[in-house]
Amino acid sequence: MKILITGGSGFMGSNMIRYLLRTYPEYEVLNFDKLTYAANPNNLIEADGNPRYQFMKGDIADEIAVEEAFANFNPDVVLNYAAETHVDRSILDPKAFLMTDVVGTYQLLEAVKRHGTGKLVQISTDEVFGSIETGAFTEKSPFEPNSPYSAAKAGGDHLCRAYWVTYQTPVVVTHSCNFYGPYQYPEKVIPLFITNLLEGKKVPLYGDGLNVREWIYTEDHCRAVDRILHDGKAGEIYNIGSGEETTNLDLTNKILELTGNNESMIDYVKDRAGHDRRYAIDHTKLSNELGWEPKTSFTEGLAATVKWYLDNKEWWVPLKSGEYEDYYQKQYVDR
Ligand code: TYD
Repeated sequence: MKILITGGSGFMGSNMIRYLLRTYPEYEVLNFDKLTYAANPNNLIEADGNPRYQFMKGDIADEIAVEEAFANFNPDVVLNYAAETHVDRSILDPKAFLMTDVVGTYQLLEAVKRHGTGKLVQISTDEVFGSIETGAFTEKSPFEPNSPYSAAKAGGDHLCRAYWVTYQTPVVVTHSCNFYGPYQYPEKVIPLFITNLLEGKKVPLYGDGLNVREWIYTEDHCRAVDRILHDGKAGEIYNIGSGEETTNLDLTNKILELTGNNESMIDYVKDRAGHDRRYAIDHTKLSNELGWEPKTSFTEGLAATVKWYLDNKEWWVPLKSGEYEDYYQKQYVDR
């Protein structure tokens, strides 16, 4: 099988490429990636030189580049991991989110339609559903996105639905809870907090720290997308969740403990604008129809993640210089 992965140099895309090359010795992968700040060519050092792995630099919103990738590689399946994903960045500058998450998804749908590609799997988020106080979002929950990021993802997901209904373009949409694990850019809360603590810095906890997120380990997410790319039905939506809910404060305490720190390292900072209180997602459909279950507990996955950042300082230390620090200091300087 030939699989085109967009955003393959980012956190989830690169983990998926490693997973596919390892799991399916006959599969070929083309990584089509724009190499934005969140991508890292070092994410795939072990794939370089593998005859079943190719890289092409390109932007999914660029029609010509997308066409070239489809025409040259002729994929059986496309996995769309390319996205601008960081809520705080979307609050400061929404435009890049619209370009990649909406226009980019449109360009991929058009290319899949033009080339008669077998399937497009859209990797999306539970954040399109908004915040939920009790219970969990199902595949039928209405979209109520609250940040420019989630609104942009919702726009892309709506286009997927429309292309299926209007043109029968074979697309499957996934909504996942928050991911974590090795190779995640240290702007998302887990790698940011781990790396701050490893550098002896405090961790900026937003608001009262009682917002709730559901966390899935990257390897479990790869296994879910594996099931969906092979057996997910076109036009269907699948939620990917773990059932592992935690408040940000509990999460922070776990990271403090794993890194040998205590609560004095918490810096309570001003809350994020429009901060969703809780996300929770029901993955019963994926379990019942495609036989998938998460395998890694949060305790296990978090310990493995802390260990990875400890063992791979050369991967993240350069990422935490200059621009990135300024960016956060500007935004959260006042409490
Ligand atoms: P994040 O990793 O940005 O993911 P998302 O906003 O997509 O869920 O944030 C996860 C949670 O952690 C969210 O409730 C915001 C909170 N958070 C902090 O408290 N401090 C931080 O510095 C960051 C980045 C996030």
